[in-house]
Amino acid sequence: MATTTRNVLEVRDLRTYFYTQDGVVKAVDGVSFDLKEGETLGLVGESGCGKSVTALSIMRLIPNPPGRTVGGQVLLEGSDLLKLRDREMRQIRGGRIAMVFQEPMSSLNPVLTIGRQITEALETHLKLTRREARDRAGELLARVGLADPKKALDSYPHLFSGGMRQRVMLAMALGCNPSILLADEPTTALDVTIQAQILEMLKRLTTELGTAVILITHNLGVVARYADRVNIMYAGKIVETGYARDIYGNPRHPYTLGLLATVPRLDQPKRARLTPIDGMPPDLAHLAPGCSFRPRCPYAVARCAQEEPPLTPVGESHASACWVAHTLTERSPTAQRQGDSP
Ligand SMILES: Nc1ncnc2c1ncn2[C@@H]1O[C@H](COP(=O)(O)OP(=O)(O)O)[C@@H](O)[C@H]1O
Ligand SMILES: [Mg+2]
Repeated sequence: MATTTRNVLEVRDLRTYFYTQDGVVKAVDGVSFDLKEGETLGLVGESGCGKSVTALSIMRLIPNPPGRTVGGQVLLEGSDLLKLRDREMRQIRGGRIAMVFQEPMSSLNPVLTIGRQITEALETHLKLTRREARDRAGELLARVGLADPKKALDSYPHLFSGGMRQRVMLAMALGCNPSILLADEPTTALDVTIQAQILEMLKRLTTELGTAVILITHNLGVVARYADRVNIMYAGKIVETGYARDIYGNPRHPYTLGLLATVPRLDQPKRARLTPIDGMPPDLAHLAPGCSFRPRCPYAVARCAQEEPPLTPVGESHASACWVAHTLTERSPTAQRQGDSP
């Protein structure tokens, strides 16, 4: 749990668009949020809603062309990363902000030993000697739970399982004591048991180190356990934000309700059917006016097709972008659907 309320990162009205033959894909369109010192903030939504583009925009790693961050601010301790020179930004990346991706193999160099890859980062960012860096790399590998860290240092990535590679990536990411870790679906490619082990380790280590984490996942069940606060994202925008307990216990956006219905629950019989959300996410290059979720929403009213709902407070540190958010309290989607059928 965060012990202070100081913001380490403030994202303000971030907009990243892709200029494609098909039109302008508004992948991230007006995203604002704060990341507090030491907290874990979940960023959740279905595939294609703009989670990775949000993280890559913060890191300034959007491929240009076709992409460009066209507006907003990314304030790290008050200074706007979007205004830094490339050289300054390289210092931040892997230094004060680290990132891990879904596919660890694509971020590891197959022809370098694990040890060399970790020590390179430590030598660059922490100005350690090769000897010091090697000692620290060994300690890091032990901390992320590798059984034989000495041997691992001299091994090549292909000898490692997916879970071990992701542990190595986390050792590299956390090695330079970043104040922020962006973890983009870090366990999605792994099987469920390994996923849980890695997430437990990540939580323990970042708590010990005081690292603030943006934990990106399409699985609301994952953030239930590991996040302090949650941002729900849909079609390039944050549609609900709040403490994890409120997102689970008192969801106030129909999309969040839809995502919750897809998460297996311990308090329900194992064989209870999980209901996927009807319909498909919209084409981000051709968004209709009004609320982007409207075509899939069982609660939609006439206004939803005309005016886009802004993110509006629905409680303490809890906001929803929905015209009917106030009617959602303690009403299940099924009950509502039956009651309101046309
Ligand atoms: N290089 C690219 N060119 C064109 N469109 C892109 C590119 N990268 C991402 N997008 C689009 O941006 C949107 C958001 O993608 P992304 O952030 O990767 O989603 P996710 O939430 O699954 O991480 C998607 O509609 C995707 O097609
Ligand atoms: Mg992604």
